Amino acid sequence: MSSYKIIDHEYDVIVLGAGGSGLRAAVGLSEAGLKTACISKVFPTRSHTSAAQGGISASLGNMGEDDWRWHMYDTVKGSDWLGDQDAIEYMCREAVPSIVELEHYGMPFSRTEDGKIYQRPFGGHMRNFGEAPVQRACAAADRTGHAMLHTLYQQSLKHNAEFFVEYFALDLIMGDDGTCEGVVAWNLDDGTIHVFRGHQIVIATGGYGRSYFSCTSAHTCTGDGNAMALRAGLPLQDMEFVQFHPSGLYRQGILFSEAARGEGAYLLNGKGERFMETYAPSRMELAPRDIVARAEQSEMDAGRGIDGKDMIHLDLRHLGKDRIMERLPQIRQLGIDFLGIDCITDCLPIQPTAHYSMGGIPTDKYSNVILDEEGTRMKGFFAAGECACVSVHGGNRLGTNSLLEAVVFGERAGKSVLEYAVGIDYGNINEAQEKTRVLEKFEDVFQRDGSESYNDIRDEMKEIMMSHCGVFRDEERLKVCIETLNGLQERFKKGKVTDKGKLFNTEIYEILELGNMLSVAQLIATAALRRKESRGGHFRTDFPKRDDENFLHHSMVYGTPDGLVIKPKPVVITKHQPAERTY
Ligand code: FUM
Repeated sequence: MSSYKIIDHEYDVIVLGAGGSGLRAAVGLSEAGLKTACISKVFPTRSHTSAAQGGISASLGNMGEDDWRWHMYDTVKGSDWLGDQDAIEYMCREAVPSIVELEHYGMPFSRTEDGKIYQRPFGGHMRNFGEAPVQRACAAADRTGHAMLHTLYQQSLKHNAEFFVEYFALDLIMGDDGTCEGVVAWNLDDGTIHVFRGHQIVIATGGYGRSYFSCTSAHTCTGDGNAMALRAGLPLQDMEFVQFHPSGLYRQGILFSEAARGEGAYLLNGKGERFMETYAPSRMELAPRDIVARAEQSEMDAGRGIDGKDMIHLDLRHLGKDRIMERLPQIRQLGIDFLGIDCITDCLPIQPTAHYSMGGIPTDKYSNVILDEEGTRMKGFFAAGECACVSVHGGNRLGTNSLLEAVVFGERAGKSVLEYAVGIDYGNINEAQEKTRVLEKFEDVFQRDGSESYNDIRDEMKEIMMSHCGVFRDEERLKVCIETLNGLQERFKKGKVTDKGKLFNTEIYEILELGNMLSVAQLIATAALRRKESRGGHFRTDFPKRDDENFLHHSMVYGTPDGLVIKPKPVVITKHQPAERTY
């Protein structure tokens, strides 16, 4: 492609993404002396990790007795027994040293009177195998992800990781024997194309919440890494499991942290009732998110939303000004900035909002990407964080386990790279052919001169995902959703591009993101249609019960020339046999 200036780079390891998991991997790799490139489409401290507000879980026991075994049990139960217990055990054991490490890196945690890291309660976290709530969420006020991101970015700079910021990854470069050999990225700033070769690649590109109309996700969460993996012939796992957070700002999705309920806030319906009494009497507002989100949706569907609308009230007034200002300053400010509502005196309007992608690129507990239901590893290719499915969250993630997953498996990816790195060289690729393949596709987007509006396609995708593949699902709605997405895929090929410029062309990168989201949305809906049961965040009104006999397995979705094919992959059960999930 002669019209592009192409710049070649060679690194020991490429980290794609600079959120919590990508940065944690980059810290370990650069500290070990590997020449590490970290590529990100936004400045690292603007990554979506900054939106995780309430805390990062670890059984430190600073606020009462705790144990990693209890944390493990809660995570297994929270996952509706779909999480892999070997990986969950690894994560819960590693949680405590990971927090100590973050503290030593300088993370500004909130403190108790005696100077320990402050911990608050969060949904589904209990002591003694479900006996009573425990305070396990290590918090930096309600800005925990933001604090973590800055801490890890500083550490990676200290060890000289090299950052390529506002570089949009176009595709993976695949080797002759099916290995991943690098990444082609577009420098948004000057329009140059960069080919990064790495002995090993860590993919940490985040989730795909933006496929939904209402979501807490940053605009960057468009499933780019997942779609790239799919295009490279890899399967994706458990895509039907999307978490809806109970407290997204009404019609806008902006997150009001679960920390509010952790500190004691109530949920009220249109009649002023604390309706969680009906749905989870022992845990009330601190039941896991899938349960609270469904309870809210049920209240709204029954006409008991605030003013009859799709709206619930989050009531913090009884917490008092001092507690709100000390523990929840960001929530208060968000309410003021976006609504003109001060939660010290008034309730905040909320609704369930897409928040987290439990599915993703399948990995084992060492962050190795795996290729099939047997767990065959792909050499030199690792994934961590929300783009990955390890699977520690199974059907539903507990709040504060995502920051934990990011640091634990980001670190693990770095360690696995180091174990594998010794003495390997670049694999064989047909470089010219790979470059041409990626760039021809890229150039094709610039040339589109059809009649369809990409904005309309994006809006229609988000609306149909929200209304037909949301908190409640059924066969009829999912079929309509899949058909609509098929139609949108066709229209996507016939869109019109108006800006042909090469410099910071936001129109083009938003089209590329839309293409990625459409691929991911199709997988979510197709896997949801196949799973004829209700488990965790996937609730089928036509199959309202969990069905362990037929569906206690992960879904591996493969893109084939004949369409999507889904195969079951066994769940790893080591300590806790499936049981009824009540709170
Ligand atoms: O509500 C929250 O603060 C979100 C945290 C999480 O998703 O882990």
